[in-house]
Amino acid sequence: MSVDDLIKEGDDVLLYLDLKRSYILKIDAKQQRFHTHKGFIDLSELRGKHYGERIDSSTSFSFYVLKPTIYDYVLRFARHTQILYLKDMSILISHTGIGPGKRVVEAGTGSGALTAMLAYFVRPEGVVYSYEVRQEFLEKATKNLERVHLANYVNFINRDVTEGIEQKEADSVILDLATPWLVIPHAHQALRGGGTFASFSPTIDQVMKSVEALKNEGFVKIETLECIVRRINVEPGKTRPETLMIGHTGYLTFARKVDKEGPTPSQMEKL
Ligand SMILES: C[S@@+](CC[C@H](N)C(=O)[O-])C[C@H]1O[C@@H](n2cnc3c(N)ncnc32)[C@H](O)[C@@H]1O
Repeated sequence: MSVDDLIKEGDDVLLYLDLKRSYILKIDAKQQRFHTHKGFIDLSELRGKHYGERIDSSTSFSFYVLKPTIYDYVLRFARHTQILYLKDMSILISHTGIGPGKRVVEAGTGSGALTAMLAYFVRPEGVVYSYEVRQEFLEKATKNLERVHLANYVNFINRDVTEGIEQKEADSVILDLATPWLVIPHAHQALRGGGTFASFSPTIDQVMKSVEALKNEGFVKIETLECIVRRINVEPGKTRPETLMIGHTGYLTFARKVDKEGPTPSQMEKL
């Protein structure tokens, strides 16, 4: 076991009981006990343990001590808006090529769930510029980001993004708001040549308006998809998808910025 796996003061740990019951807590000398509905955990026993070890509660339920992932943190964010589902964030990140060092413009910030995921991936050299029209949402989102030590990678901007994007040569522009088509001309100006665009919308009407705007504005490789995830119950003789699932969240529309030009030579011939 490595020293990095040793649990110490100030660490966040995920106490895992089962898929429906797990808790994130901070190791803090001032706190002696952590209470769960399956008895309490004696925190003095946690210090000096390694991640992956077991700890039993006062009523002899076994919890496992895990290091929280960004997924665990984002699921527990305080929410004052609908947040983007992790299934949609995952495909968004890979499709747009967001990674270390990238400069990403995002709107709106909402609860900051997507902002946190973007910040996590652009670290340590990259930056997320996150626009939000409502100051009170921005403040709450900032707290969520601070809690997971990701606020330093985000530049929060309290502004209506339909009025313009001040950044230039951005690698990606990502939208999760009600009227993305109004932002698409600004996204075109903000992106570098070939930069990636993504927009999340719950309804088909929003998608149609956005795709039309993308075609008019100088984007190619325009693609809309829906990500549907089913959890599978795995038990001998009973392995099958769960009966209940998240049926619909929204559609993801992707595109790449190119130069806005007049008609191509072949289009001219048809005129
Ligand atoms: C669905 S929430 C975004 C949730 C966010 N992606 C998350 O995962 O937590 C949409 C947000 O966009 C903001 N918004 C709507 N129109 C906006 C605009 N024109 N400029 C900036 N923010 C806007 C809303 O105030 C709201 O907070």
